[in-house]
Amino acid sequence: MGEHILVTQQKKYFDMNDKIWLSSPHMGGKEIDYIQEAFDENWIAPLGPNVNGFEQDLINFLDEDVKVAALSAGTAALHLALIQCGVSHGDEVICQSMTFSASANPIVYQGAIPVFIDSEEDTWNLCPFVLKEAIKSRIANGKKPKAIIVVHLYGMPAKMNEILEVANEFDIPVIEDAAEALGSSYNGKKCGTFGKFGILSFNGNKIITTSGGGGIGMP
Ligand SMILES: Cc1ncc(COP(=O)(O)O)c(C=O)c1O
Repeated sequence: MGEHILVTQQKKYFDMNDKIWLSSPHMGGKEIDYIQEAFDENWIAPLGPNVNGFEQDLINFLDEDVKVAALSAGTAALHLALIQCGVSHGDEVICQSMTFSASANPIVYQGAIPVFIDSEEDTWNLCPFVLKEAIKSRIANGKKPKAIIVVHLYGMPAKMNEILEVANEFDIPVIEDAAEALGSSYNGKKCGTFGKFGILSFNGNKIITTSGGGGIGMP
């Protein structure tokens, strides 16, 4: 019986180590101390000195001029950004087509309609040329898109100069989905600090993780 359990555990270990993980959580060694401290000080709440410190660390890392709020998930951050952009029922929102579904889900949560835009081949992110054509065509159809969600997929920065040029031409706010791009830069500036809003994710498979969590940045 004991031997059977051991063999099963060993099999599990080898199966796990045969995999190439997308991004498995990494422990620095102090996590359990901070968890114990939170219990000892009774900060068992999604606020308190650790959350304040985390938000300040993100500001220090991203850009001193950016305001950051920690949230429950990257999806919640996108949802909040859409609400702040005034997106509501029946509106159209442009969204990069090649991404994780969470980039588009909050559009639907608001009762709005995603307009998916293909990627270009250099970065695999939102194509500025197709973006411009789509905006012109939606306006000709009688509906100007309410926001643009651009994704820095797999940490690769999108072509922000060209995308912002198009967005500014038509005066449409840009929401940067930087869920996978904490630490990426474009022309020396951190991803997530270009748009009207930038969002981050701290889900288990992200660059740094809080198990589940997200953040919204407002440059
Ligand atoms: C590109 C992208 N956008 C949004 C999200 C949503 O983040 P969360 O899982 O924290 O809600 C994720 C990850 O899950 C993601 O990879």
